[in-house]
Formats: sequence, structure tokens, C-alpha cells
Amino acid sequence: MPVVGQISREIQKPHLEILGGSKLAGEVKIGGAKNSALVLMTASLLTEEKITLNNIPNLTDVRGMQEILLAMGVNCEQKSDLLELHAKQILNSAPPYELVNGLRASFFCIGPLLGRLGQAKIPLPGGCRIGARPVSEHIKGLKALGAIVSVEHGVVKASVPGIDKRLKGASIVLDCPSVGATETILMAAVLAQGTTTIENAAQEPEVQDLAEMLNTMGARISGVGGTTITITGVKQLHGCTYTAIPDRIEAGTFLIAAAITRSTLRISSVIPGHLKAIIQKLRDCGCKIKTYETSITIAADEINSVDITTQPYPGFPTDLQAPFMALLTTAKGTSVVTEKIYENRMQHVPELQRMGASIRLQTNTAVIEGIPQLSAAPVSGGDLRSTAAIVLASMAAKGTSTVNGLNHLDRGYSGLEKKLNSVGGHIQRKD
Ligand code: EPZ
Repeated sequence: MPVVGQISREIQKPHLEILGGSKLAGEVKIGGAKNSALVLMTASLLTEEKITLNNIPNLTDVRGMQEILLAMGVNCEQKSDLLELHAKQILNSAPPYELVNGLRASFFCIGPLLGRLGQAKIPLPGGCRIGARPVSEHIKGLKALGAIVSVEHGVVKASVPGIDKRLKGASIVLDCPSVGATETILMAAVLAQGTTTIENAAQEPEVQDLAEMLNTMGARISGVGGTTITITGVKQLHGCTYTAIPDRIEAGTFLIAAAITRSTLRISSVIPGHLKAIIQKLRDCGCKIKTYETSITIAADEINSVDITTQPYPGFPTDLQAPFMALLTTAKGTSVVTEKIYENRMQHVPELQRMGASIRLQTNTAVIEGIPQLSAAPVSGGDLRSTAAIVLASMAAKGTSTVNGLNHLDRGYSGLEKKLNSVGGHIQRKD
């Protein structure tokens, strides 16, 4: 029996078999952003008119969110990467526990439900392997807008007092630039009476994408992308057709795939401006990168060590810390990686060490001594981005690795192995 919390070693089904050592070449098309799609989907609750979303990726988390919205009475129809959502009426404001429990992003429903119905009952998302993931800032913001919020038996109950059950605009200062809290407050404030300001707001592109969509629906939001967002409440929102931004984390993952295999690759359907921090660090490592309007080319030969510290946007993204560390295990010299956003986002370290990486870990700081080549091994991913990291490491390792943890990987990457194989990878998914 594996020790509780330890990642199991036996080869599970499904898993990936990856023959490392091949170079990549060609072009990869990047899909829509998971961390945009999930929140844009919940915004459909804010109007009784139809919402059509384009560039929605085919991911387990997106399907999970559809199930939650369906359970609340929202009509959902996905046709390839187009998703139609129609919350003509919301049958219940308490999505089923078993659906919500598996998908933290379901907590995004609380803001729009309060804005639209004046009540919501959502299970506390709880922590996950990378950290406690509190929602205290979300709740602080909803209370500031006039909601009565209590947490009982792991369920967050919220309601809006008064005859009109309408939230009231407020000035809110976040303790930390939380992406989710900024998005929750945005969606609650758009239908509130009066003006709301959010200071110390998150600046991530996915927050900007949500604000853009809400304005397309008739909201009045300004300042998004900066640290202070202003929302002037309106009476109601109408439907819209909106295209989600490309997934900057998938894009960064493929740039790192090219770098770790010392390859030349083009990635298309991206917004280079969303990738400045990762592009800078790859250039600092010695990669040659050219950016175009909607594509990026990267050519990697020798990789030198660099230091990275994860920060809120526009700093280096925490979601690319694990994949980038995989790259640094074969860089020339010593690198220091410091994780500042989450308390436990180093689960890829023991897996990389099994592949021969020389890493010393002290709490959330890893010191990596580059080695010439990793060696293949049976490895397991413990969370979404750690699993992506060990897939990349296996692409560069000598021999054939088996990679467990596809339940994590499929949450955030749509057909990662298919895309890597299309540009020269040798990966088999064994179901
Ligand atoms: C979003 O999570 C993303 N998920 C995460 O992506 C991403 O890592 C994160 O933003 C940071 O960029 C989605 O958008 C669905 P936060 P979120 O609230 O909103 C602390 C991935 O791999 N915090 O900005 O939960 C929190 O503990 C996932 O795609 C509080 O202290 O992130 C964390 O340390 C992982 N109190 C930090 O802020 C709060 O009330 C960042 O959390 C809220 C957050």
C-alpha cells in the first residue's frame, strides 16, 4: 500500500510511453485558454439570452463545467471548439456536490448566481495538491457588495438582502492579486447598483478576457489589465458571441518542448504579448525566438542556466514553473527556481530526480545543477503542470519512459501527445 499522499509507482492505465531523444520540427496550433474558457462559461449565468463561445478547448475540466451548468438548468451544446450556452432560466442555484467537488473552477458560479438570482449555495472548493487554495478574498469581496455569506459544513451559502435582492457597488482592496477573486467580484459587480472598484486586482490575460466578454454583453468595466478595475453596474446583460484567447500556458509548454529537445518549432494561433516573461527567460537561456502577429518561432541549441521566480502576471507564470524546471535540469550551469504563488508546487522534483536530475529542494526553492542528459524512468505526475513537466523531460531523456497521471494532464491539455507526435515526438497512450 503506498504511503498516504505518496504518488503511486505502479504503472497505471492509461499512461504514456515516451521514447526520448528525437528532435521536433514543424508547426503546432495552440488551442483556447482553459483558464479563460472555464470562467467565460460561468458568465453565461448572468443573462437569459444565448451565449456563443468560440475557441473553447476539449478538456475534462471544460466538460466538467458543462455538467455543472447543465445541472443548474443551462442549455449547453458543444460543436468542436464552439460552445453554445443558454441560461434562459436557472433551475437551481446549488449545483450538485459531487459535480462541484471535482472542479475548483465551479466556485466561479457564485458571483453570477448572486448577481442574477440574489442567492447561491456552492461547496467550498477546498485545497488541492498544490496548495490550500483559500477563497477568503472572494468571500470578502461578495460581503463588501452586500451579500450575506456563511460557510457551513463545507458549503458556502450566500444571499442578497432587500426587496430587489440587488448587490450594491463597493470599493474593494484585495490582500493579494487573486485571479479567481478578481473574476468572482467582476461577475458579481456587473449587475450591482452603483459603482465598484477593485484595487490590487489580478492583471492576468484571462481576467482581461472575462471583462472583455462582459462588456460585449453590455457591462461597463474599465481599467482591466491594470491594478484598479472600475465597474459601473447595469440592470441587465444581453447575449453575445465571443472568442476565448489562446492558451498562453499551452503555448509556453510547447516553446519549452522545443527548447528541451534542442529543436526548431513554430507555434501558431497565439498572442505573443501574453508570453513576454517566458520568452524573455528562454532567450536568457540562449534560445533564438522570433515573434509574429499570431505566431512564434523558437530555435534552441545550447541551453544555459537561468534563475526564475514565479510572480503574478506579468511576471513569470507559476503554471510554467514545473515545465521550465524540466528544461533547466539539462541546462549548462546552476539554476535557482523559486515558487512564490503556491505552497506545494514542487511535486515534479522527485520525478525529475528519478530521471537523473540533480536538484536540491529547500521548501519552495530548488537549486538545479544541469546534467548532459536525463535517463528514462517510470514516473508519475501529481498535478496538471507537474505531469506536463515530466512529459517534456521524457521527450529529452535517453530511453523509454512510462508517465502516469494522465487524469491530471487531460484536465489542461487537449491531446498533448498527439500534437507532440505531429512534430516528431514518439509517444504512445496506453489505455
Ligand atoms: C487561477 O487559479 C488559475 N486557475 C491557476 O491555474 C493559476 O495557477 C492561478 O490563477 C494563478 O495564476 C484558473 O483560472 C481556473 P489565485 P486561482 O486566486 O484563481 C492565494 C492551472 O494549472 N489566494 O490567483 O485559484 C492562493 O492561495 C491552474 O491551470 C489567497 O490567499 O489563483 C494562491 O497562493 C493552477 N486567498 C494565490 O493566491 C484567496 O482568497 C494565487 O491564487 C485567493 C487566492
